[in-house]
Amino acid sequence: MCGIVAVVGMPGAVGIVLEGLRSLEYRGYDSAGIAWPEDGSFALYRAAGRVADLDKLLADGPGDGREAAIGHTRWATHGPPVEKNAHPQLSHDGVISVVHNGIIDNFATLRDDLVRDGIEFHSDTDTEIVACLIAREYAKPETAGDLVAAVEATVNRLEGTFALAIMAADQPGLVVAARRGSPLAVGLGAGFGMVASDAVPIIPHTRRVVFLDDDQVAVITSGSCEIRKDSRPVDYACTEITWSAEAAQKDGYDHFMRKEIYEQPTVLENMFRNRLRLPPAVDADPEFVMDGIDLPDDYFKGISRIVMLAQGTAYHACMVGRNILERTTKIPSYPEYAADFRYRDPILDPSVLVIAVTQSGETMDTLHAVRLAREAGCKVIAVANVVGSSITREAAGVFYLNCGPEIGVASTKAFTAMIAGLYFLALRMGQIRESIDRSELRRRVHDLLGIGHRLQAVLATDNHIRKLAKKYMNAANFLFLGRGTGWPLAMEGALKMKEVSYIHAEGYDAAEMKHGPIALIDENMPVLVIALKGRRYDKLLGNIQEIKARKGKVIAIASHDDTEIGKLVDDVIPIYAESGIMNSICCAVPLQLLSYHVAVFRGCDVDKPKNLAKSVTVE
Ligand code: AGP
Repeated sequence: MCGIVAVVGMPGAVGIVLEGLRSLEYRGYDSAGIAWPEDGSFALYRAAGRVADLDKLLADGPGDGREAAIGHTRWATHGPPVEKNAHPQLSHDGVISVVHNGIIDNFATLRDDLVRDGIEFHSDTDTEIVACLIAREYAKPETAGDLVAAVEATVNRLEGTFALAIMAADQPGLVVAARRGSPLAVGLGAGFGMVASDAVPIIPHTRRVVFLDDDQVAVITSGSCEIRKDSRPVDYACTEITWSAEAAQKDGYDHFMRKEIYEQPTVLENMFRNRLRLPPAVDADPEFVMDGIDLPDDYFKGISRIVMLAQGTAYHACMVGRNILERTTKIPSYPEYAADFRYRDPILDPSVLVIAVTQSGETMDTLHAVRLAREAGCKVIAVANVVGSSITREAAGVFYLNCGPEIGVASTKAFTAMIAGLYFLALRMGQIRESIDRSELRRRVHDLLGIGHRLQAVLATDNHIRKLAKKYMNAANFLFLGRGTGWPLAMEGALKMKEVSYIHAEGYDAAEMKHGPIALIDENMPVLVIALKGRRYDKLLGNIQEIKARKGKVIAIASHDDTEIGKLVDDVIPIYAESGIMNSICCAVPLQLLSYHVAVFRGCDVDKPKNLAKSVTVE
């Protein structure tokens, strides 16, 4: 996700755009930039880092007195977060400036077309290609000076997702915007116009907002707004915004954590949008696009052992990853707490593949553990969310989660994305090593491509889970149990409960019950058991009966068609899934929602829990 702001007809435009970018930093904050028309081209200021770093470049007021400006705060997907890749991106002739949120899937083809015209590029971004395409159209005799026609001709060639705002240096009173798959809002003011990624930057200036639909183009001047589709004006509705700016940042949700829980279906659907394809022919191999981790096939051969390094929630994702990797690659695989690994003198050699798994890419223990592995000559790749972060720079290749900033301190969407990312790598490695047959590979790819849709169904249990949260909110302790991939999910459910509701909770492999935890069971100990149908189901029923025999309260996450388990337990959370690696992702959502609702009922600061930081950059 990125933040876009463009304004026309607004005295103090530069300051207004900067303020708008600050309010959009929850969408991305690894680099920022601003531009305004000046002397037939654009004055352009960009900086790696946050909007505050951009502010410093404008300290002596070069933009004072301007009435139009265009700006952007970035969450990198193509190209590291450095100044040259920050937006706005200018066209080769300096006439067009563009800010963009989204991913252009066919940017390589479009770039080749421009290269054939002798056009050179100065960044690694797909956005610069869009700016050059528009400029080339804008310079054609038949569309000379017609920015709307140039933009419409260009967006018709784009594949992928985009929210674009475009300005031409010779028309400072005009902004053209276009959207497909990424949100875009137009603010209608008295004598001015605004375009932004959402209503947040607009609300302080006007509450009259038009939300663009896919494949619409907006033409905004200080006194007018035209919405177009298929190169023709269309009618549009103007919304009177009643929310506060803060509510708009959370997209109407009460907390970022809840918003990010609800983003998971989209995140998992978008993750593989241009990275995984399943041809219809049953004898066709699935196609993997190893974007960011484009290593030779031999890199994944001759591996004796896989070691995953992580902390916290990321470690729990690695516990699920072990099951995935061993089943598909037939290579012994081990999740390791990075902090323990780095001080243990581990046995390492160049035949070991290390996978660092991290949302922030800055966890200090994971970073040092990775460096230790590199010194031992291990192969190192990463699964990470933040482009260009420290850990990603230590890796030979990175599978980026592309799930946008995770603002809530309690990790939710990154957790399920990490599992899916490890699954993607495991399937690709299995294909390279021919350790999984084609029919099973196709089946698993089909499951992976459909998991986002499956999660949507799980979210439908939210109200039911909220009632359960009310019932159990005053528990002093909680036990979470599971078997197989249910075990790491139990660990993650316990972590969520601890970190947002401050209830002491423990996650265990249910097989461990008799080895100690059963001593804790009584009528005051609620136990959540992940008990999906599958080869361990009978053992889990046995655990449940042991708990009930000692007056324990049991909540079961169960397969939706399980008609028996409800007779044994106190409460059931039904989900459309049976046990299995991909279905472990489905169990994450009820666990996240339960801890979220309990925390809200207990009046906890859900997005910023006490004592916690989003990224543990100290030891
Ligand atoms: C998860 O809810 C926690 N905030 C924490 O355990 C986190 O997962 C851990 O610190 C690892 O962070 P990383 O993924 O950024 O490396």
